[in-house]
Amino acid sequence: MKIAFIGYGQVGAPLADHLQRIGHEVTLAAKDPTSDSVRKALARNASLGVAAPKDAVRDAEVVFLATPFQANEAAVTAIADELRGKILVDCTNPVGPNLSHGLNNAQSGSAMVQALVPDAKVVKAFTIYGFENFEDSSYPAYDVRPVMMYCGEDAAAKTTVGDLIRQLGWEPLDVGGLNQALHLEHMTLLWVRMVRVDGHSPNMVWAVLKR
Ligand SMILES: NC(=O)c1ccc[n+]([C@@H]2O[C@H](COP(=O)([O-])OP(=O)(O)OC[C@H]3O[C@@H](n4cnc5c(N)ncnc54)[C@H](OP(=O)(O)O)[C@@H]3O)[C@@H](O)[C@H]2O)c1
Repeated sequence: MKIAFIGYGQVGAPLADHLQRIGHEVTLAAKDPTSDSVRKALARNASLGVAAPKDAVRDAEVVFLATPFQANEAAVTAIADELRGKILVDCTNPVGPNLSHGLNNAQSGSAMVQALVPDAKVVKAFTIYGFENFEDSSYPAYDVRPVMMYCGEDAAAKTTVGDLIRQLGWEPLDVGGLNQALHLEHMTLLWVRMVRVDGHSPNMVWAVLKR
């Protein structure tokens, strides 16, 4: 599958790397192909492609958005035409002062992204843990796979993203429509405070048990 990445820092680079290694054609959508983040991503995996943002996104079936939340508007509106009809995996989180919700709980970050590019199929995923878990998604002491919760409005887009999640080693859990994104963003804040403030392991993830 052809996949483009907008943002390839702590979150985007390991996901891009892993997706390329399992057989996808992954391209960094680069405003500046000589930037530090392009250089670092290519040092991690020299088989990643690099193209101008419009070209990378036009050619992709799935686009990952892994930019700082404040950069989302500039990043997606610049390629709004190319994003039309594309699956847009929103990996971003709005984080406010003292680990509050960055949009004061008024709406989710993903709803804001969807409003910026209404013709894209936004699926929120890869947000509920820190980047350490995207660098290595194996938890060998357990028989269950760690869960990756995701949500969005478009069923076919969610099937595609669920497949990618499974290929990356996670158990995909579709938690519903994009109205669930606000709750996933709070799960992120829960994880971040537990790990970054209270000292829990950054390799802590959740699992789903059913009967
Ligand atoms: N860090 C985590 O553990 C974690 C976990 C889950 C989700 N998230 C969320 O994931 C997102 C990315 O976090 P991160 O830690 O990966 O950030 P990061 O390491 O700072 O990387 C950000 C990336 O976005 C690019 N970027 C910045 N402004 C841009 C713009 N206007 N247009 C296009 N690209 C732009 C940067 O490229 P340049 O450097 O070339 O500008 C860089 O490649 C955030 O929204 C964060 O809340 C983070």
